[in-house]
Amino acid sequence: MAEMTLQSIFTPEIIADPYPMYRQLRESNPALALPDANLLVLSSFELVQATLKHKQLGHGDDPRLTQSELDEFLSSPARASLRRTMLLKNPPDHTRLRGLVVRAFDARRVEAMRDSVIRIANDLVDGFIDAGPGGDLVRLFSHPLPVIVICDMLGIPEADRSQFVTGTRISGRLIDPTPMTPEELQQANENVLESQIYFESLCDERRANPTDDLITGLVESEDEHGKLTKDELTSNIALLFAAGHETTVNLLGNALLALYRNPDQLQLLKDDLDLMPNAVEEFLRYDSSVQLSARSALESTSLGGMEVTKGTQIITLLAAANRDPEVFDDPDTLDITRKGAKLQSFGGGIHYCLGAQLARLEAIEALKVLLQRLPNLRLLEIDNPDWKQTITLRGVKSMPVTW
Ligand code: HEM
Repeated sequence: MAEMTLQSIFTPEIIADPYPMYRQLRESNPALALPDANLLVLSSFELVQATLKHKQLGHGDDPRLTQSELDEFLSSPARASLRRTMLLKNPPDHTRLRGLVVRAFDARRVEAMRDSVIRIANDLVDGFIDAGPGGDLVRLFSHPLPVIVICDMLGIPEADRSQFVTGTRISGRLIDPTPMTPEELQQANENVLESQIYFESLCDERRANPTDDLITGLVESEDEHGKLTKDELTSNIALLFAAGHETTVNLLGNALLALYRNPDQLQLLKDDLDLMPNAVEEFLRYDSSVQLSARSALESTSLGGMEVTKGTQIITLLAAANRDPEVFDDPDTLDITRKGAKLQSFGGGIHYCLGAQLARLEAIEALKVLLQRLPNLRLLEIDNPDWKQTITLRGVKSMPVTW
């Protein structure tokens, strides 16, 4: 096993369908050690859950890196920016940064967005329905919808949105556990620098003309309360923007693919749209748009009876945990009536997804609108869709359909 690397595991064939590989890992070794990489790959529900809740497992560098290797790694503006986000911080910085935005995502505020999400979904369908008979549903619907929702929340002006709505500037490869190519890194750096300039100027604008959006709130936290630095401000806005759409875009695509690959479940749902909230839980479990998360042992500690040395890097395969037969009956079957499913899709512990309720609401309402308004929707590529070549984030690049 020593020569096994993550690059050798995540081939394009595995990316197209990682579940048999997850199953093999879970059955043969749910805590696979790759000593050459100082890495532990966890694939059982129990170990994944225990890791995410474990206080000594947080975010930190591989101790085998020299200072100059680390400096070189962080000389990338994209990586440096990601490091400033709550996603990769430990307490107390994590607590401080998350505390600044957590209220905006509470249940009441998210519920208040339901009508607007329904309206956005209908507006998008209005925009393309007469132009049929077909097109790319990612471009027409599943990409723009979450982008518009998060732009509304952050307060990105309508006039500036087209650049975000038509294409994503976020490189999902940045959060993959395998090394990026120089081209990928350069592209990610350019994108981050460009969005930093944009978000900085938007923050200046909000400083001059405050409103009630999330960016104004964050700007005030920086200026008046000294609760975050200028760099933290733009990096965390960029995180909210990225986490707030890419994941949900992919969830919509993965959900549709799962449904059209399982026509009995599609029919069941069409016959009773009240099943949608439960169905969305099942879509999240069955093929999550976030497949894994990463941790590092901040101290030497024990995990599920194993000794874990300080500095060990850990990958928790959330999507493998979601198919653990110890927890789910018949885990490889899509069952939109499955009851009481626990999920690892939104992570757990202190980094539990801030947008979980928002993502659920968006998926429920968006999929209802689609099924109601496009009763003859057909996916043209069900067996071999065009998967994004990313490992952590899972989703299709495009979804050719007719309606
Ligand atoms: C289907 C949609 C989504 C999925 C599957 C998802 C999944 C996740 C996961 C697994 C984590 C934890 C990562 C870790 O522990 O390392 C996370 C964190 C986070 N998510 Fe989501 N997410 C989704 C949608 C959203 C949305 C709509 C937002 C809204 C802005 C959002 C914002 C965040 C933020 C800010 C964090 C970092 C929280 C922290 O570090 O404390 N996510 N998400």
